[in-house]
Amino acid sequence: MALLPTFTTFVSVCVYLGKAFAYDNSYYDNVAIYWGQNSYGATSSNTAYYQRPISFYCQDDAIDALPVAFVDTFFGTGGLPVLNLANTCNPTDNATFPGTDLADCSALAADIEYCQSQGKIVTISLGGAGGGVGFTSDAEAQTFAQTIWNLFLGGKSNTRPFGSAVLDGIDLDIEGGGSTGYAAFVTEIRSLASGASKPYYITGAPQCPFPDANLGSVIDQVGFDAIYVQFYNNACGLQNYGIVSDWNFGVWDMWARQTSPNANVKIYIGAPASSTAAGSGYISISNLSTIAVQMRRSFPSFGGVMLWDASQAYANNRYDLAIKQALSAAGSTGFTYPPCSAAAYVSGQVYTAGETASYEGYIWEAAYWTNSVPSSGSWSAISACAGSSTQPSPTTSTSATTSARTASTTSSSASKTTATSSTASPTTTATGTCSGVAAWQSGVAYTAGDEVTYTGYLWTAKYWTENDVPGGSAGDWTNDGAC
Ligand SMILES: *[C@@H]1O[C@H](CO)[C@@H](O)[C@H](O)[C@H]1NC(C)=O
Ligand SMILES: *[C@@H]1O[C@H](CO)[C@@H](O)[C@H](O)[C@H]1NC(C)=O
Repeated sequence: MALLPTFTTFVSVCVYLGKAFAYDNSYYDNVAIYWGQNSYGATSSNTAYYQRPISFYCQDDAIDALPVAFVDTFFGTGGLPVLNLANTCNPTDNATFPGTDLADCSALAADIEYCQSQGKIVTISLGGAGGGVGFTSDAEAQTFAQTIWNLFLGGKSNTRPFGSAVLDGIDLDIEGGGSTGYAAFVTEIRSLASGASKPYYITGAPQCPFPDANLGSVIDQVGFDAIYVQFYNNACGLQNYGIVSDWNFGVWDMWARQTSPNANVKIYIGAPASSTAAGSGYISISNLSTIAVQMRRSFPSFGGVMLWDASQAYANNRYDLAIKQALSAAGSTGFTYPPCSAAAYVSGQVYTAGETASYEGYIWEAAYWTNSVPSSGSWSAISACAGSSTQPSPTTSTSATTSARTASTTSSSASKTTATSSTASPTTTATGTCSGVAAWQSGVAYTAGDEVTYTGYLWTAKYWTENDVPGGSAGDWTNDGAC
């Protein structure tokens, strides 16, 4: 009953505002920004920049997609999920539906619909670094997909946290709990959405080490619309863009075009929106602009930039607006393949660090001394390319095709903490400069100067801290480097 009036209102608002533009997933200049966790509020006492209602961030054209973070528990009291939006709406401060820990945030419906009327998509993000998430079977995941469809998307329920607002899809920020069931979950959401009156989008936010520990096998099995790669809190983060053995956007582009079931999947550079938004990976807006435009010109799968999070971007001089302007200046549409300007790869030849070669549609740069065929590891794909290269190789055409997908690292670190305390457990074995330093543990209080190891890095506490993971959005720890 409510559907027709809502739709009519939506259309008339669009016409009235002259909004010709709706979200277009094929663009190269989309900005996605997480909203819901008040990341700024976790690191600062300046309440002026604490998280505001979502509509506050939809008043101009800077942002295109807003994943709402997070549904951080799948099966809570009464079998329903738990939604935690920090200071905006949470199960402790706000009313919950009877017999559940699911907050009734229906007062936010108009704010969400306002963002949608501005041509933005609003999705529900599942997971987060401290998430109590995961499935034991495909059947359980399929049932959960129906629950999510009914609570947040096109279905019906008496316990819809955002009331009449119909969100635009699902984001999976799965940082623990394994891979079981997620492909079945996505397939079920797609099935429920088929034939719907509007498109629904499915995105994922793996960390940059490829393949991702939790989402890696999932994104190989089912089509996603966009992948928001977290280029932070890891060696492959933006802070190491200039190190050819670390920066791996090329690996993600190759995955998108050669392995992903959706060959049109878009890859985003996920970036911290301020120095306090992540343990590592924050770079100046001019540096991020340069890198993003370079990737946009180099890789056809490039879709834009994802930022963590809205509160941090607004507090940091509208980092979101600045990156949007840089991306838009480089063009929303159209991709011209750079020429294969490097000499063709010669089989068996020795290459030393910094030397380049063209091979199978990419320009590669050797990270180290190597005599192996270009693939990730000793080589890095620095650009897609087209056309014949300057020096054709007679031997490459018959050589075995190498897999573009090489597991180069398995490290994974928590990056986004929910408002509730994290349950990440330490797994690091101390070696090298970490020798003698204990692994970080949840539930242990640390004071300024205390050292721990976590995900292969040495960390020092900046101040008293408990339950905030090194590298997490609370920003309590200084990263002293890999060990
Ligand atoms: C949730 O509770 C907080 C604190 O009382 C309040 O400021 C906020 O407006 C509430 N949120 C909703 C959606 O009702
Ligand atoms: C920006 O990049 C330059 C190198 O291109 C580097 O020296 C500088 O530290 C970077 N600044 C920030 C804030 O990321």
